[in-house]
Amino acid sequence: MFREDFPILKTKLIYFDNAATTLKPKTVIDAVSDYYTNYSSNSGRANYDIAIKTDKMITETRKKIADFINAKEDEIVFTSGATASLNMVIWGYLYQHLKEGDEILTTKAEHSSLLAPLIEMAKLKNIKIKYIELDKNNHFDLNNFKKTITNKTKAVCLAMSTNLVGDVRPIKEIIEIAKTKNIVNIIDTAQSIGRNNIDVLELDVDFMAFSGHKMFGPTGVGVLFGKEVMLKGVKPQNYGGGMALEIDEHDNVIYKKVPYLLEGGTLPIASIIGLSKAIDQIKKVSPKDIKKIEEELTSYLLKRLKEIPEVYVYNSNTQTGIVAFNYENIFAEDLAYYLSKQNIAIRAGNHCVKKIFDLYQINNVCRISLSFYNTKKEIDALIKALKNTKIKEDIIF
Ligand SMILES: Cc1ncc(COP(=O)(O)O)c(C=O)c1O
Repeated sequence: MFREDFPILKTKLIYFDNAATTLKPKTVIDAVSDYYTNYSSNSGRANYDIAIKTDKMITETRKKIADFINAKEDEIVFTSGATASLNMVIWGYLYQHLKEGDEILTTKAEHSSLLAPLIEMAKLKNIKIKYIELDKNNHFDLNNFKKTITNKTKAVCLAMSTNLVGDVRPIKEIIEIAKTKNIVNIIDTAQSIGRNNIDVLELDVDFMAFSGHKMFGPTGVGVLFGKEVMLKGVKPQNYGGGMALEIDEHDNVIYKKVPYLLEGGTLPIASIIGLSKAIDQIKKVSPKDIKKIEEELTSYLLKRLKEIPEVYVYNSNTQTGIVAFNYENIFAEDLAYYLSKQNIAIRAGNHCVKKIFDLYQINNVCRISLSFYNTKKEIDALIKALKNTKIKEDIIF
């Protein structure tokens, strides 16, 4: 239905790696090209026409993102992606405000972009990371969350939906519980943004991170949302042009206010402009319909995978378009390579979930991640390739 918006889909490609990055609509590609072709200029620094246009585009995009998640413009910090946003809040906020002996809650199903900086930061400050026990499907368990909280718990850091297990966490309830104990919440929405209506005000989120390229936008841009009062407590990790107003003769620096304080250096301008069009694309379909289409496709995929006895699905209770599986006696990477020879792109490995073994007692899985532009016909092509009776012979390249 919306496939014609995505030029790459005019090729033979069957793209099932949407959790890694989504495809880009023509409107996004054109907006990036238009900027470089017609008004390439830096932002926040000059007064000539094309630079003024660039400033306007950035301001409008900040507003559009703010409206999209029901935030204020000053609560939107442009970063280079979810990883940068998470590092910004972990080092700029948690490292500055937490102390030795404090505890942070998270789970073993998180992406390394959350877990790795958290672990490194915690080591430096002797802060304890506690993993909330997941249920038998590796889904988040609210009771276990409540049980893990102590009077030393100062932060909870979680994805809204995970990139391998594919569960959707009860974020509203999690935040409500956290608020009663003054626990800061940091929510990674890299896999949820664009597929859900996210209202930061209603959820009462403190910090939220996401990437443009996983929501049909360009690579190189991301967002850190921070509630105004929380954002003011983030110490910049990146000092440079654009965030300092004055440096006097005694080297006292007068800085701009947030969000500009946290945006030192040249912004990823082309990507920000492209992201604006990506949001238009999401609105054109609607997050609700994107989710609905993904859910329908996921049920179809799970049903069809059951036809193949050699296929074992690890997360048959997935609540998103993410399905993790292996084929009996075939190494995950080999299967992905075999499928790529038939123009089917899936991903294999640990998917940056470094504690994957604790979840599934295996180190490598194949992952299909669907998006709204995928079709049942594409799933049929995958099933046909997996049903190939000579699959094992064909895999010996
Ligand atoms: C749940 C989750 N969080 C964070 C990230 C990091 O995103 P990026 O690499 O765009 O910074 C990813 C990327 O796959 C992810 O799936």
